[in-house]
Amino acid sequence: MQISKRAKDTQESPIRKLAGVAGAAKARGIHIYHLNIGQPDIDTPDVFYKEINDFSGNVLCYGPSDGMPELKEAMIQYFSNYNIGLKKEDIVITTGGSEAISFAFSVIADPGDEIIIPEPFYTNYNGYASVANLKIVPVETLPENGFHLPDLTEIEKKITPRTKGILINSPNNPTGTVFTEEEIKGLGELAKKHDLFLLADEVYKEFTYDGGKHFSILELEGLEDRVIVMDSISKRYSACGARIGAVISKNKDVVAAILKFAQARLCPPTLEQIGATAAYKLPLDYFEPILAEYQERRDLLHKILTSNKDIVLQKPKGAFYIMAKLPVDNSDKFAKWMLGEFDVGGETVMVAPGAGFYSSPGKGKQEVRIAYVLETVKLEKAARILLQAIEKYNPTRVGGQ
Ligand SMILES: Cc1ncc(COP(=O)(O)O)c(C=O)c1O
Repeated sequence: MQISKRAKDTQESPIRKLAGVAGAAKARGIHIYHLNIGQPDIDTPDVFYKEINDFSGNVLCYGPSDGMPELKEAMIQYFSNYNIGLKKEDIVITTGGSEAISFAFSVIADPGDEIIIPEPFYTNYNGYASVANLKIVPVETLPENGFHLPDLTEIEKKITPRTKGILINSPNNPTGTVFTEEEIKGLGELAKKHDLFLLADEVYKEFTYDGGKHFSILELEGLEDRVIVMDSISKRYSACGARIGAVISKNKDVVAAILKFAQARLCPPTLEQIGATAAYKLPLDYFEPILAEYQERRDLLHKILTSNKDIVLQKPKGAFYIMAKLPVDNSDKFAKWMLGEFDVGGETVMVAPGAGFYSSPGKGKQEVRIAYVLETVKLEKAARILLQAIEKYNPTRVGGQ
C-alpha cells in the first residue's frame, strides 16, 4: 500500500523538525533557549481566562460554524479602531490562523493553480499549498533590501494563466518586514489588472516598531471583492493554544464557500471564542507595554548579532523575528549541531533553519530565523551563546566539510 504523493511531498516544519534532537539534548540535562518558535512568552490577558472560568453551561455544545456572533461583534469593534469597517457576514471564525490560510488557499484555487508569494515566507504556507495542490510561485526579496518587494514588473513577470492570487504577510514572519502602503497599493493595482485575489496574512498586525504602522489590504479602496485577510489571536493576545483565527472578506462568494468548508469541520473551539471575545474588548493601550518590550528585545538582539560582522541582517520593523545570514556552511546542520554537540555550561540555543522558509531549492541555506520571544536577560544569554556557537562551529565546518 502507498500513501498519497501529496502526503509524501508535504514538507516537515523546519520550526518543529528538530524537536527530536532537542528532546535528546534535554534528556542529557541541557537547557535550551528556544528562539526557534514564535511562541510569545507574554502573559495571555487575565480577562481571557476569567471569561472562560465564568462559563456556566452544563454542556459544552457545538457553536455556529462561522463562529460566535459575540466574538464577531467584538472583532468589528476592534477593527473600527483602525478605521476598518466590517460586518458579521464578512467574518468566518476559524480554528487558528492556520485553518484560515488553509481555507483561503482552497477557496481561490484548483489543483495545479498558482499563488505568488514573496520569499522567504512563513514556512507553513508550503504545507498548506501541498495539501491544496497549489503551486507557490516565489518572488525573491533580499536581506540587503530589508526584504522589501522588488519592482512590480518583476512580480508581474511571475503571473501566468494559472495564477489565482498574490499573498503577502505583513508584518512578516520570518523577516520582520512591514510592507509600505505604496507597496501594498501597487500589489492591489496588479491584482486588479490581472483579475487576481489579493490575500494577506495579518496575524502580526499590531507588532510594528519605531512608530511605524501596518497598512491592511482591507484599507484598499475599490478592491473589496478581491481581498482576503487571514487573522488570528495567537500573537495578538499571546494565545497560541486557543486556536482562534478568522478569514475576513467582503466577497460574498468567497465567504459562502469558506462557510461550506467550515461546516464540514463543524465549529471552532467554543470556550476559547468566549475568552477571545473578552480579549478583543481590551482597550488598544493594552498593546503599548507589549510593543515596548518587543522593541527592546529586537534592539538588544540586533545589537548583539551585529557585533559579528560576518552576520548579515537588517533591523526588522515588525513581528518578532530576525532572519539572519550566518557565516556557516549549512544552517540545518548548524542548528542540529548546536543541539547535539554544543553547549556553554549546559546551555544551548535552538533556531529555525532558513531553507524551510523558501520554496526555491537551495535558498536560505545559510540563514536562520530567530524569534525574540524571551525576556531580555534570557535573550541576551541566548544571543551570546549563539555567537559562541558560530565561532566554535566555523573552524571545523566552513570549507565544504
Ligand atoms: C505568519 C503566520 N501566519 C499564521 C500563523 C499561524 O497562526 P495560528 O497560531 O493562529 O494558527 C503563524 C504562526 O506562527 C504565522 O507566523
